[in-house]
Amino acid sequence: MSTATSAKQAAGVAAAALVEDGMQLGLGTGTTVVFFLEALAERIRQEGISVSGIPTSKDTAARAKELGIKVISLEDSMDLDLVVDGADEVDLEFRLIKGGGGALLREKIVAACASRVVIIVGEGKMVDKLGTTFLLPIEVVPFGVRATRAKVEGAGCQAFLRTMEDGEPFATDNGNLVLDCKFRYGIDDPAEMHQTLSQIPGVVEVGIFLNLCHTVIEGCADGNSITHQRD
Ligand code: 5RP
Repeated sequence: MSTATSAKQAAGVAAAALVEDGMQLGLGTGTTVVFFLEALAERIRQEGISVSGIPTSKDTAARAKELGIKVISLEDSMDLDLVVDGADEVDLEFRLIKGGGGALLREKIVAACASRVVIIVGEGKMVDKLGTTFLLPIEVVPFGVRATRAKVEGAGCQAFLRTMEDGEPFATDNGNLVLDCKFRYGIDDPAEMHQTLSQIPGVVEVGIFLNLCHTVIEGCADGNSITHQRD
């Protein structure tokens, strides 16, 4: 296993240890979350704990079911005890960039229903300034995407339509498109940028997550993890 993968696994395992019997969970999306799901499934098997989870993507739903984790929806419950999700960048104030896997809309809806959100990351995701190591994903409706993209770029970035390997546009689980936005010097004021971008017609969700993260578990290559707690 590579050191990057070991770090992700360490974070996933540490997050699974936070789960308590009877909890209703939000299940994030991404490669780090897969390690959390595997460790959680192991605890269900070994300790007999009973939990249910709301997945934030079709991929996560499929993986959770394969692993024997009970999957429910927000129609069943909208009060979650704990959400565990990944992130593409985390700054010093626990503001996040998310959406590398294209699940930002469902991830934000689910995170907003939780009393506690734990973000699990491997190495290199903690940054001084958002937008410096990762492009900001924005989910937009397909209708009028050219016009939406021009307006997004008017906010001070270069916006690239996300495509798949075959060159076709990437579609989210909601049937929308993703613009990946490059800010030359990063995002100076994430709250202001979130506000500006959210007001553009055609923008469904912005991958800046504000005030939604309570704890960050940073995995290390040696299999340990560091827990950062917001005051
Ligand atoms: C998906 C996400 C992911 O949580 C984020 O991209 C991190 O993924 P990974 O754990 O694979 O690095 O926001 O929309």
